[in-house]
Amino acid sequence: MGRVLGAGLVCVCVLGVVVTTAVAQGRGAQGPPTNLQVLPQDTPRPQLTALMRSFTAALGVQCSHCHVGTPQERAKDDLETKAKARNMLKMVMALNGEYLGVPAGEDNKVTCYTCHRGELKPLTAPPPGGGGR
Ligand code: HEC
Ligand code: HEC
Repeated sequence: MGRVLGAGLVCVCVLGVVVTTAVAQGRGAQGPPTNLQVLPQDTPRPQLTALMRSFTAALGVQCSHCHVGTPQERAKDDLETKAKARNMLKMVMALNGEYLGVPAGEDNKVTCYTCHRGELKPLTAPPPGGGGR
């Protein structure tokens, strides 16, 4: 910490912490996400919250299906479902990017809802007597 070369950097970091804390308090939210491994680290909080709500709607679950504890503890990796959801997220990103070539900034063609339709286990075949149009 006391090294001369590091001093400038330390100052910048401390300033950064003060600024982000102030922004977080101003919005009445928590600090920036600390454990994003698939999404970009700097995903803005409103975008992250909207995505998480789309997960609950797409799968027909609550936040607690993938998260333990209080809203302050969402960074924890205690549940296998959160790990599965990370893989699903990678798959969906690859489908839209590599396979469908959706341009950056445009809405995804494949979402969690595309398969899940409000259920944890997507159907693998049309229901008996149904499916034909
Ligand atoms: C289907 C599983 C799933 C559901 C349901 C879910 N989440 Fe998440 N959540 C994740 C995954 C996976 C990540 C980590 C993404 C990554 O690594 O890029 C995450 C990360 C987060 C983070 C960032 C934590 C940090 O600091 O790194 C927050 C905040 C969060 N979720 C809030 C919510 C809220 C609020 C809800 C309910 C509206 C919710 N989540 C529902 C899977 C889920
Ligand atoms: C291409 C189809 C498809 C898409 C898109 C998809 N999933 Fe899945 N998902 C599946 C299948 C298939 C399973 C396995 C279900 C089973 O075990 O029968 C599954 C399982 C899961 C599970 C484990 C279910 C459980 O029992 O808790 C989670 C969590 C999950 N998906 C989250 C997501 C999330 C979040 C997204 C969007 C980022 C997503 N999925 C997008 C097909 C898909």
